Amino acid sequence: MQTDDILDSLLTFSEEIAEINDYMLLEEKLLFYAKKLVGADRGTVWYCDDRQKTIYTHLADGIDQLTIPMNTGLVGTAIQTEESIICNDVSKNPKHYSAIDLKTGYKTKNTIIIPFKNAANEIIGALQILNKDNGKSDFCQTDLRLLNLAVSIVGATLNTIFLNFQINKIFEYVASVADEGDVNSILARLADMGKDILRAERTTIWLADNNKTLSAKVAQGIQNKVSIPFDSGLVGHSYITGEPVICNDPYNDSRFNQEIDKQTGFITKSVIAMPLRTSDGRVVGAFQCVNKIGRSGKFEEADFLRMKMIASYIAKTAELNELTKEIENTQKELIFRLGAAGETRSKETGNHVKRVAEYSAILAKYYGLDKESIETLLIASPMHDIGKIAIPDEILNKPGKLTATEFDIMKKHAEFGHEILAGSSREILKTSAIIALQHHEKWDGSGYPSRLEGENIHIFGRITALADVFDALGSDRCYKKAWQLEQIYELINEQSGKHFDPTLVEIFFKHLDEILEIRHHLSDEFGHPYAS
Ligand SMILES: [Fe+2]
Ligand SMILES: [Fe+2]
Repeated sequence: MQTDDILDSLLTFSEEIAEINDYMLLEEKLLFYAKKLVGADRGTVWYCDDRQKTIYTHLADGIDQLTIPMNTGLVGTAIQTEESIICNDVSKNPKHYSAIDLKTGYKTKNTIIIPFKNAANEIIGALQILNKDNGKSDFCQTDLRLLNLAVSIVGATLNTIFLNFQINKIFEYVASVADEGDVNSILARLADMGKDILRAERTTIWLADNNKTLSAKVAQGIQNKVSIPFDSGLVGHSYITGEPVICNDPYNDSRFNQEIDKQTGFITKSVIAMPLRTSDGRVVGAFQCVNKIGRSGKFEEADFLRMKMIASYIAKTAELNELTKEIENTQKELIFRLGAAGETRSKETGNHVKRVAEYSAILAKYYGLDKESIETLLIASPMHDIGKIAIPDEILNKPGKLTATEFDIMKKHAEFGHEILAGSSREILKTSAIIALQHHEKWDGSGYPSRLEGENIHIFGRITALADVFDALGSDRCYKKAWQLEQIYELINEQSGKHFDPTLVEIFFKHLDEILEIRHHLSDEFGHPYAS
């Protein structure tokens, strides 16, 4: 090729690739112009797979994708040594990997190989050009310089694409994290994100707890739950000092704790750890990546920035989880106390609402409701009798049978309760409102206030009805003494299909052991004022 033609080709090449934002197209252009510049027959773009310890063809003339062990053949050697190779008689070179020619039927006579790097200056693959003038001419130093030039022109674009690729990966992770509802899943996604973006073999999220230990919240490759003293190892060092740590020779670092390696059989070769800091600056744990993938195997200061971004996500998630738990617990306690207030006015013990909630959860579980509904029911059912706060004392606590008029007033507690709770957009309050309104409806339509029948009664209402009656009968009330269990079973059986949903009655007896365990566990600690 004449100098003018070479210059023209290089110019067109750089103009064309400036427009490209896609790996494959870029590689196609590179191969096309590389072959043109040196007058060669074929070309291949190879990439390294550091995790699998292989190299593979990404784009190749005349062959399907091929994967060979890393460090194999002339390409493997060029990648390993980070040096270009010219070989004008491959048949005489012991490093030549002849298996590919045997497989494809193509005869390689001579070749030239140029390794290329990514933005982080790590070798990620190689350009291989085969058979100059169909193997009739030798590759020369000028060819090498021309191909180096072509690779470096692509290199700049390759870097941009590589960076875009990384940014997209971050976006993908951030989007997938946003889709996760559960804190543990979010933390697991963030740990994966760290592994991919920092190119590490393993990552661990360590969170501090009250016992002066760091517990592995997400630990890749570790089966059992692991806890370490808060000042132990490189992670402990990062946690205590609040500073990031890099260590590329842990076995010669006195701060490194070899214990976990001994337990798991894993060998730690390099570590990077970053403290997890909440928005008010508290250090709540540390994020750790182990064993950098790639030929250097070393973490570098440049990794800190990426690590810091992920660590801040992790810290915010952990913090948010703490706050959510606090709010949920407060909410639960308020509901129990409110529910118990209704019960206390009617001189029932506080544990009644707790037991009803637990029985309801068991019935709901075996009825087949989903986890979320069970949890909502568990929280909401203690409010079933909240409407009793609107019932006059003389009726609510009348020691004896109510007159018909009094009973009509008493029945109003269902609608009062509904009025108190209805109209909220909160799931728990919506559920409580349904339960308050429907817990006295009966399967055969003879209940109150709406005489609903069968499955027209919400499943939450049907469940709470059975749980409530079972517990009320078993407890002393102002108008009656506690029944014996056998008597209660008899009534429940007899009322199956009348008062109660028969499916629920069946579930009740099938899982009676669990119900009785709760009854025992949450029995009233204190004597009832009306008990003799
Ligand atoms: Fe009630
Ligand atoms: Fe009740």
